[in-house]
Amino acid sequence: MVENVGGIEALLQEDRRFPPSDEFRNQANISDPNVYEEALRDPEGFWAKFAEELDWIKKWDTVLEWDPPHAKWFVGGKLNVSYNCIDRHLKSARRNKAAIIWEGEPGDRQVYTYRDLYREVCKFANGLKSLGVVKGDRVTIYLPMVPELPIAMLACARIGAAHSVIFGGFSAESIRDRIDDSQSKLLITADGGFRRGAIIPLKQNADDALVSPTPIENVVVVRRTESADDKMVAGRDIWWHDLVADQPMHCEPEPMDSEDMLYLLYTSGTTGKPKGIVHTTAGYLLGTYATAKWVFDLKEEDVYWCTADIGWVTGHSYIVYGPLANGATSVMYEGSPDYPDRDRFWAIVAKYGISIVYTAPTAIRTFMRWGEEYPQRHDLTSIRLLGSVGEPINPEAWMWYWKNIGLEKCPVVDTWWQTETGQILIAPLPGITTLRPGSATRPFPGIDAEVVDEAGNPVGPGGGGYLTIKKPWPGMLRTIYGDPDRYVEQYWSRYPDIYFTADGAKIDEDGNFWLLGRVDDVINVSAHRISTMEVESALVDNPKVAEAACIGRSDEIKGQAIVGFVTLKDNVTSSDEVIAELKRHVATKIGAMARPDDIYFTAELPKTRSGKIMRRLLRDVAEGRALGDTTTLADPAVVEALKQQYGDDE
Ligand code: PRX
Repeated sequence: MVENVGGIEALLQEDRRFPPSDEFRNQANISDPNVYEEALRDPEGFWAKFAEELDWIKKWDTVLEWDPPHAKWFVGGKLNVSYNCIDRHLKSARRNKAAIIWEGEPGDRQVYTYRDLYREVCKFANGLKSLGVVKGDRVTIYLPMVPELPIAMLACARIGAAHSVIFGGFSAESIRDRIDDSQSKLLITADGGFRRGAIIPLKQNADDALVSPTPIENVVVVRRTESADDKMVAGRDIWWHDLVADQPMHCEPEPMDSEDMLYLLYTSGTTGKPKGIVHTTAGYLLGTYATAKWVFDLKEEDVYWCTADIGWVTGHSYIVYGPLANGATSVMYEGSPDYPDRDRFWAIVAKYGISIVYTAPTAIRTFMRWGEEYPQRHDLTSIRLLGSVGEPINPEAWMWYWKNIGLEKCPVVDTWWQTETGQILIAPLPGITTLRPGSATRPFPGIDAEVVDEAGNPVGPGGGGYLTIKKPWPGMLRTIYGDPDRYVEQYWSRYPDIYFTADGAKIDEDGNFWLLGRVDDVINVSAHRISTMEVESALVDNPKVAEAACIGRSDEIKGQAIVGFVTLKDNVTSSDEVIAELKRHVATKIGAMARPDDIYFTAELPKTRSGKIMRRLLRDVAEGRALGDTTTLADPAVVEALKQQYGDDE
């Protein structure tokens, strides 16, 4: 049985339909519905045709080698991702087009044309080489949303080093774990970043992460906030501006094999240890290129804005690689949506004439709560398409977005995918698909998705079950860095040779997919993936805690909120101070986004007779529901006591 984790069962009653307007269909990059059938008949041919649109140093010999569960795409091909995202656009008038329009939170602004981007990427790539970074090395990047972030990524891609970007909200300890796992020899950071008017002390966090022993030999520091001028470590740290000052402005792109690693990106799984998801060169580039082109209907004249942070996969695929491979103009914003006021996003849309906005449901629900007056302050008529990603979008939020931001004339594309999938897998094609508020609609052409029951049988229309992907796709992860067994076990062992997404879904009579949330111990907080095990480990790391269990409780704005159930050690008394201390402890161990919303104290945790914590019952308590089946509990009194204490005031 798949639980309806997100509490959005009601969406199956949703019956509004939005077919594409003639106006949209007539100008769309793809409007022929036969594309689905053609791609299903010959997926490899479908992807190969798309791959012709990329620039190859050497064409591939074989489109796909599938030795389950290991796929190789475009085998024998050679290419360079930075060349595809930059150099090839310099041959046309695109050379003077804005590649990146960046706005800092204080209101400062920079525009990089494709030619500018070329120069800056080449200079930094030469800087990396001067520090001894070579093809095959790993480089960790811990930066705020500044232009140096995509420049550093593209410079790594140019010389064949794999980047490992860490979201700026992670703590020193999280940085340290990721650096140790990837064995990076270089760290790129900034003195700080601006967020809601304050400075996030990135350099301080980085320094705290680099206590010896560390594989990091050098730290390149971007001067953003002028807040760490006295913190440079002699012999180890170098300013970005000093590093690039005398570098030549050309750097030959390294010819990479299709299957060479492009990057690794850590994400949370069901254990306490984050997984380094490995993405490779050709398939990933193609997957992001093709989906950006068709799902967002990207055109030469679009001004496209994905509001995600590049520290997450959405930013990798749909701020940097997908849009730039398409030669698009990609907007980046450094800060918070409510600084200096709650209309900041809409001021940005109006200022740059943004035509495509891609954001998360949690942001949309926040805007809903703030009210319509903020978008109404600005001219949003430049927008022609809206996107959503990161968590299930409830129909109410979808309709609000469509009405107040899209002004009732723009398609809303809800895109389902994961860090592991690299590219969008389920989403409408806006020139073809009839939209349904709350549904990601259909698998992208060439993607074979199915909802199955426990035994692996397709559930068919109306049924609920586990979302699986039956055939390999170009942008899929290739492995977990340093842990090939976990790759097989995590994704390919539940159903042999079929990719297990760990998401619940339903299919309706028309074949639309309705995503229901995670079915494993991963919580989705404000579209950020957090493992219950990670938070539990952080809690028990505190000397006051004997035992802890965490769950995700439904939350109107964030999708899910973290609730920790804690048993304190015998000599410790519960108090508000202890609650505050434990929340702080988790934030310091992992990062502020993992701070629990609530901590409940309990003398014991509800466990089965074999000692397994029954999180399902904890969720029932936290959400104020009647308790589900308690027959397997070792001691039913434990959960009754919890319910008495916390259950009814929710
Ligand atoms: O549960 C799904 C949810 O986010 C998970 C993937 O998280 P992450 O790897 O951080 O990538 C987020 C951005 C792609 C999925 O397993 N998810 C993502 N998009 C959607 C979604 N759930 C429902 N609808 C979506 N559109």
